[in-house]
Order: sequence, then structure tokens, then C-alpha cells
Amino acid sequence: MTDPVHGAALPHDTALLVDELGVGFRGVQALQDVSFAIPAGGVSAVIGPNGAGKTTLFNCVSGVVRHTGRVALEGHDLSRLPADRRAALGVARTFQTPLLVPDLTALDNVLLGAHSRTRAGLTSSVLRLPSVVRAEKAVRARAAGLLERLGLGRADVRRADSLPHGDRRRVEVARALMAEPRLLLLDEPAAGLGADEASGLLSDVEAFAAETGMTCVLVEHDVGLVMRVSRHVVVLDAGRLLVAGPPARVAADERVVAAYLGDDWSEVTV
Ligand SMILES: Nc1ncnc2c1ncn2[C@@H]1O[C@H](COP(=O)(O)OP(=O)(O)O)[C@@H](O)[C@H]1O
Ligand SMILES: [Mg+2]
Repeated sequence: MTDPVHGAALPHDTALLVDELGVGFRGVQALQDVSFAIPAGGVSAVIGPNGAGKTTLFNCVSGVVRHTGRVALEGHDLSRLPADRRAALGVARTFQTPLLVPDLTALDNVLLGAHSRTRAGLTSSVLRLPSVVRAEKAVRARAAGLLERLGLGRADVRRADSLPHGDRRRVEVARALMAEPRLLLLDEPAAGLGADEASGLLSDVEAFAAETGMTCVLVEHDVGLVMRVSRHVVVLDAGRLLVAGPPARVAADERVVAAYLGDDWSEVTV
């Protein structure tokens, strides 16, 4: 694969390329000169203390925040595309605080995720053409299947606001998967979950990545869990890249060790 930014051959099969990314919010430089490449397939992670710029990074990749520098997905330069075009090219995400529609059922929330890939024309919807009805049935079956796979089979008729926190997070993940993403960005998917629940959710995500060939990048504060599940780890600190690489290399990096032993890491967000 070729690097769309520099035209050079990439060092490995790259899913996400971030090059000299920068974001400023009225005087606060949230990200500065951040460059890294995430290998295609499996789970990778972004870690860093509170305020390091992890969510801002996801906002840049998904296209909801204006940035300088480049973002490329599987060889396509996304940098100048709006969020909906990036979604159509395969970028899906969840939010640090789950954003479900509270009075819709879990199943209907998951169905919302199908929007970017299965837009039936207004005319055919009004006419209820058999092909449209069949397509809708297939989409509903897929949504129900995703909930089932994520351990929420019985929750599909329940309103989102009646679900426990952990289940809401799973519904969010199911909704993002509904779009059949090439790149799934999960912002603290395990926040507020118990250790077993967190590790179960990440195993499910790993299995989906293995089956579909998608790449998942997650923000997660449990460093032990991150090092176990990730192929590649990006460490941000105060808007800058501290280090990026395979977990063994990152865990041995003295700046990471120093940061982890510092006070910052004990005040991580939940
Ligand atoms: N919309 C915004 N307006 C102003 N400052 C912001 C905005 N979003 C993030 N920031 C600032 O950017 C920095 C990085 O924030 P964020 O990406 O949320 O960090 P993290 O997710 O690593 O905790 C912080 O200093 C935060 O206050
Ligand atoms: Mg964040």
C-alpha cells in the first residue's frame, strides 16, 4: 500500500495513517504534530492521561473537528472530507459518553447505525417495494444478530434509557458495527464496566475484527488490558505523541514508564 500523504511505500499494511495532525481550540493546542500509522486488522489502542488529546484525535479522524495535517484510511486521504463522507468510506465511532436515543429501543438505536450504508430512496420507501421490504427485514435481522452477539439478545425491545450502563455501551458498539466499518473508533468503551465485563466486551470486538477484517482503535485506561489486546499502542501526552509501536516496545519505553509512575496516570477519566 502507498502512503497517500508522501507517496512512499508504507512500512506495513496500514489501516490508519495520521500525519502531522494539529488542532487548536482558542489558545489551547489540543494536538500538535502527531504522526503515526495503525496496522490493518485487529485491535490497537490510544492511551494517555486525561486531557492528552485522545478524544480530539478521534474527532479529527471521524471528521467532526477541523484539523491541520493529514488523515488517511486504507490509502484514501480523508483530510478534506466531511464526517458523512468519512463514515461512508468506513469510519465508525462511539462516544466517550454513550449517545443513544433514550426513548428508542435498543434495536432501533442499533438500526440507526445502518443509515450511512443502506439509504433506500424516498420514493421506493413510500411505495413499499418488495425489494425494499426485504432489504429492511435483512437490516433488522442483522441488528438483532449484533445485539445477540454482544450478549444483549433480550434487550432489543427495551428502551435505551432503561438499560444498565454496561448494556448501553454495548448497544453503542452494536450501532457502530451496523455500518460495517473498516475502521471502528471506540472512545473508552469499557469506562464504568467491571474488569470481567470490560475484557468480555473487548474480546467480542476482537472477534468481530478478526471476522470482518476491520481495524479497531480504542481509548482505554486499563493499561494491562490495552497491552494484552492491542497490536499497536499510541501514547499521547499533552497533545503530543510520546511513543507509538507494538505493546512490548511501548511498555518498555522509559518515558511511558515515567508517565505511568507519575501522578497524571492516577487521575484518569472514567
Ligand atoms: N471543543 C473544545 N473546546 C475547547 N477545548 C477543547 C475542546 N475539546 C477538547 N478541548 C481541550 O483539548 C484538550 C484535549 O482534550 P481531549 O481530547 O478531550 O482529551 P482526552 O480525551 O485525552 O482526555 C484538553 O485540554 C481539552 O480541554
Ligand atoms: Mg477523552
